[in-house]
Amino acid sequence: MVLPNETKKKSALLQGPDDQVLDLALRPTTFNDFIGQENVKGNLAILIGAAKKRNEPLEHILIHGPSGLGKTTLAYLIAKESGAGIRITSGAAMEKAGDIGSILTGLSDGDFLFIDEVHRLNKTVEETLYPAMENYCLDIIIGKGTSAKTLQVKLPRFTLIAATTRISLLSNPFRSRFGAHYKLDFYNQKEIEKILQRSAQLLKVKTGDGALAKIAASSRFTPRIANRLLKRTRDYAQVKNSPILTEPLATEALSLLGIDELGLDATDRKILDVISKNFNGGPAGLKSIAAAIAEEEETIEDVYEPYLMQIGFLARTSRGRVLTDLAAKHLGLKKTDQQSLI
Ligand SMILES: Nc1ncnc2c1ncn2[C@@H]1O[C@H](COP(=O)(O)OP(=O)(O)OP(=O)(O)O)[C@@H](O)[C@H]1O
Ligand SMILES: [Mg+2]
Repeated sequence: MVLPNETKKKSALLQGPDDQVLDLALRPTTFNDFIGQENVKGNLAILIGAAKKRNEPLEHILIHGPSGLGKTTLAYLIAKESGAGIRITSGAAMEKAGDIGSILTGLSDGDFLFIDEVHRLNKTVEETLYPAMENYCLDIIIGKGTSAKTLQVKLPRFTLIAATTRISLLSNPFRSRFGAHYKLDFYNQKEIEKILQRSAQLLKVKTGDGALAKIAASSRFTPRIANRLLKRTRDYAQVKNSPILTEPLATEALSLLGIDELGLDATDRKILDVISKNFNGGPAGLKSIAAAIAEEEETIEDVYEPYLMQIGFLARTSRGRVLTDLAAKHLGLKKTDQQSLI
């Protein structure tokens, strides 16, 4: 099964050829299996519990955070916990007001509509959503010019769950129409190890002491990447005829994949290298970095930068990206006099 919201382009870091299948196979189906993000889970439990007591639909929910941290998973879990249906679409998939109109009119009372990559919605579709979100109605304009008439269509009482990796691209009027707003953060080592334990069980991978800890440390503290690395390292152990994925085998496999002990891959190193060598440590504009390493700006911003900033290797300033001292040390770069490392 391929879901429409999962067809978007992702970097090789986040998605290999069979990773959509992997995502589906390993996606938690209960809140118990959804490890970490305790704050978000706690708040959601209250939101869902209160709405159930009042017998009302949930408030509209906006979830944001870097790729692979569990936004789509949470949307499914919210619908399941509420015992309602969920319809999935993506911001880029809707071009006209009619596109969203036909989806909304097809919903049943209490249903959820999940819009992934909501920052890609165009203005017309976004504005069509406003009355739908506020009053569960749709304004349809019939005719043109002076003879145009507005017809109001009543909609079922639905809940919109929107997900985005780019919260800053959402307009204020849109943002303010969501009653609940959750941010997903990177996980910690222990949480990723727990996620990997569950995945290893599901994939029937036998692991030796320290193997999962090793993979977790290289996972950028992102569940999707952790699961992907588990699968790649398992493949490596199989090729080496080992029934158990041991720590040394995991280490060898990761180094063969070009992933270092901090989870940085070749593209991360290229980004840091370019800022260091071509721009003397920065500031460097996103456009220039993207051009220098032949990678898309969006991929750099969505996939690579959040983690590089999280580990304190990269800083964003008003004049561009700047390499930190920590990054220079990790890469063994020399800090020259002209370099404006921070
Ligand atoms: N909290 C969690 N516990 C266990 N597994 C998780 C958790 N969060 C995510 N995963 C795993 O990671 C995979 C990716 O998560 P998901 O598709 O929900 O991420 P996303 O935030 O929607 O990413 P994107 O922005 O790329 O759409 C899931 O299929 C699941 O296997
Ligand atoms: Mg998603």
